[in-house]
Amino acid sequence: MPDSNRHAESAWSYHDATRHSYASIRANPHSLDFANQPLPFKIYPTLAPSRLPGELRQTGVAALSAIAESVPFGTNSAPGLRSVAQLLYLSAGITRQRKYPGGEIYFRAAACTGALYEVELYLVCGDLADLQAGVYHFAAAEFGLRRLRAGDYRSVLVEATGSEPAITHAPLIIVCTCTYWRNAWKYQARTYRHFGWDNGTLLANLLSVAAALGLPARVVCGFVDATVNRLLDVDSQREVAFSLVALGHGSDPPPLCLREVSPLGLETVPLSRHEVDYPIMREMHAASSLQSPAEVATWHGRGSPTNLSPPDGPVVQLQPLSDAEMPRDPIEQVILRRGSSRQFARTPISMAQFSTILDRTTRGTPADFLDPIGSQLNQMYLIVHAVEGLDPGAYVFHRDSGAIECLKRGNFRDQAGYLGLEQQLPADAAVDVFFLAGLQPIFEQFGSRGYRAVQLEAGILGGKLYLAAYAQQLGATGLTFYDDEVIRFFSPHAAGKSAIFLVAVGNSVKQKHWLEPVAP
Ligand SMILES: Cc1cc2nc3c(=O)[nH]c(=O)nc-3n(C[C@H](O)[C@H](O)[C@H](O)COP(=O)(O)O)c2cc1C
Repeated sequence: MPDSNRHAESAWSYHDATRHSYASIRANPHSLDFANQPLPFKIYPTLAPSRLPGELRQTGVAALSAIAESVPFGTNSAPGLRSVAQLLYLSAGITRQRKYPGGEIYFRAAACTGALYEVELYLVCGDLADLQAGVYHFAAAEFGLRRLRAGDYRSVLVEATGSEPAITHAPLIIVCTCTYWRNAWKYQARTYRHFGWDNGTLLANLLSVAAALGLPARVVCGFVDATVNRLLDVDSQREVAFSLVALGHGSDPPPLCLREVSPLGLETVPLSRHEVDYPIMREMHAASSLQSPAEVATWHGRGSPTNLSPPDGPVVQLQPLSDAEMPRDPIEQVILRRGSSRQFARTPISMAQFSTILDRTTRGTPADFLDPIGSQLNQMYLIVHAVEGLDPGAYVFHRDSGAIECLKRGNFRDQAGYLGLEQQLPADAAVDVFFLAGLQPIFEQFGSRGYRAVQLEAGILGGKLYLAAYAQQLGATGLTFYDDEVIRFFSPHAAGKSAIFLVAVGNSVKQKHWLEPVAP
């Protein structure tokens, strides 16, 4: 299927088939089969994990700085084992647990739809301090690493990414994969959208921790899928590489890997007694797969996406806190404090808190599909319910001028609850942030793979929103939505766009000790 990525029909078919509407939700007979619930972890029973160091380093870097900044590419640095442990724990480690009559839920550092944790992490590294070169799987349950291959395989990823410069010079590359069934058990075919969201919230944490540790980091979405999947030896009918993150920088490219990337044939514990397949997700994935380093190189050269046209309605200038004024709660503390709000109080947040959240979240994400850094595929549309000094209403955020444009004034709490799949959370929040994108220009620029990128970016921005809220003692939660109703609500401004993701922010109603903290 050469160059299938260029044709976006499959991405449109997938997107259209997985829209939520009032009618589609009511017509869906799906119910949760708890007896067949998938395991939340990937386990290789024949490989013993080596435990990672458990002590968290206090970087002292303010979360509001860590989410907004990145270490310039080219700064020489390599993580050692302790930094690796810190990166893994604060992005995908078990941070809290909750017992319930049927068992236990292990909550992880980043938010994830349904707490189903379909994202797995793998390390591909050269020799690092206290960690030998190899390909490793992060065993979240044991907080350890299982070595799948010994030796330096980074050049396989250099080739797979068409010699992407950050990958070429990275001492460590983290590969994020997504497992269909782990999430589809609950969300069925809509799971492919969740891959981007859930991988994205995880990456928001990972990028922030990397910045706090002084490591350059870059998200890479363009790679030859089959080569990466083969290196990890995943069964790509079930689990697929979704994003890579280059971490650190060394002057020399890795030595050419002369070993054969042979199948490993390692046993893994079945996730469930049986799995249900949703073929449109695999079709979506195949259609957005890149086949050769040459195709990847062209994909990388696509340039920056389109931006918003200048405001033509009333504009309110944001008033974010400066570095000197902002809360300085460190990133480690904020990640451990984070947990999705289960209920919001209908109390206002301040204009400074609101402005700081938007400002810090959108200072730029280093990624191969966002060139120059700071460009965005998603635009942020807002329903403001309770921000001091701001009329309640619908707005759109203009990042370039640090301002919001009013689209319509009014109290839209009921509509927001409806748009967020008839849930109470978006009705009670102080502000709902909707991520909307023009899919057509994105597909023209990036082919079907643009669909992965736009979902992933929304997840990263959403994850940063979470952290910006919790850094200021506020709460947040990701939410799902009625696709077309969202666009109708924000139209005519949003006409022609698609709803990608939603995050609500506000003052959480404190829950009574329903979660126990877990140390690494
Ligand atoms: C992309 C995304 C969508 C979510 N959608 C909803 C939702 O529609 N309703 C809800 O109550 N929680 C939603 N959540 C919150 C998750 O249920 C929550 O992240 C998960 O249970 C893990 O708990 P934690 O975030 O407190 O660690 C969503 C989270 C994410 C990341």
